Amino acid sequence: NSIDAFMRGIPKAELHLHIEGSLEPELMFALAHKHGVKLPYASVEELRNAYQFDDLQSFLDLYYAGAAVLRDEDDFHALTMAYLKRVHADGVVHVEIFFDPQTHTERGIAFATVIDGIRRALADGEREFGITHRLIMCFLRHLDAADAMRTLEQALPYKDAIVAVGLDSSERGHPPSKFEAVFSRARSEGFLAVAHAGEEGPPAYIIEALDLLKVARVDHGVRCEEDPALVQRLVQDRMPLTVCPLSNVKLRVVERMQDHNLKRLLDRGLCVTINSDDPAYFGGYMFANFQAAQRGLDLSREDITQLAANSIEASFLRAAEKKHWQ
Ligand code: HPA
Ligand code: ZN
Repeated sequence: NSIDAFMRGIPKAELHLHIEGSLEPELMFALAHKHGVKLPYASVEELRNAYQFDDLQSFLDLYYAGAAVLRDEDDFHALTMAYLKRVHADGVVHVEIFFDPQTHTERGIAFATVIDGIRRALADGEREFGITHRLIMCFLRHLDAADAMRTLEQALPYKDAIVAVGLDSSERGHPPSKFEAVFSRARSEGFLAVAHAGEEGPPAYIIEALDLLKVARVDHGVRCEEDPALVQRLVQDRMPLTVCPLSNVKLRVVERMQDHNLKRLLDRGLCVTINSDDPAYFGGYMFANFQAAQRGLDLSREDITQLAANSIEASFLRAAEKKHWQ
């Protein structure tokens, strides 16, 4: 199929990827065995069958439990390397990866273990596959702001390795305003900012992310459509949305792919991009997300070209690096 070859071949950047969400069941079992951790599933198949979610929280419960097999630097290296190898085959040329340090430091894993393993893989991946990279540290919004502030302080020695801070985990009841002071400190330390907003939360959370956290991109953001003035603002500012089509269907943000607003937002002139979010849990990496969206929404070659161009535009690459892909 020629549109598939086109989608696979076109250079694109992935801007919304939780590295812990790329942990495939096979690697989860291998690491569980390596560390003598007992998983509550008898087989890879049984684990995969458990990946049926009602909402964001039902996914997060499994996602945090799965991450418990990640214990030493080699685990984080193997996890990140497997992801890079996989998306190299999908035509991804640049990645901006989220990691959740609190998921690990809370279990007694050192911050350094996590980031050193990921960074070593990113460097290896650039050498082996030519994939460029940025790293984004996310705060878990279900934890309190003081915990996020301590995490930010742990990250300061790694400033040069982290381009931005982000905000993820349970959205409802944890508005961006809760983290205003943390993000203000992060920006004063030179970090850029992004935040998950408007996935399950209301458009007001997107407005808070813009006004209070001063984000450079909105992760998901699909509920912006409920507020026409907000949509107009996003168009005017060319504020990128990192949309995750398969994730949105899996977590029931939309009922079916045909109902997704990605195409409408694209046609309105928004800088929307396609991303995989947590590919091991949601049924596919970058190409699978492009393919599912293309089929469900009847996207044209021009739409695909625009989406790929948006991903480069919305990235944190330097202007000269962007030029190379434009
Ligand atoms: N939303 C919020 N938190 C997350 C997600 C998501 O889609 N994936 C991993 N953590
Ligand atoms: Zn996400």
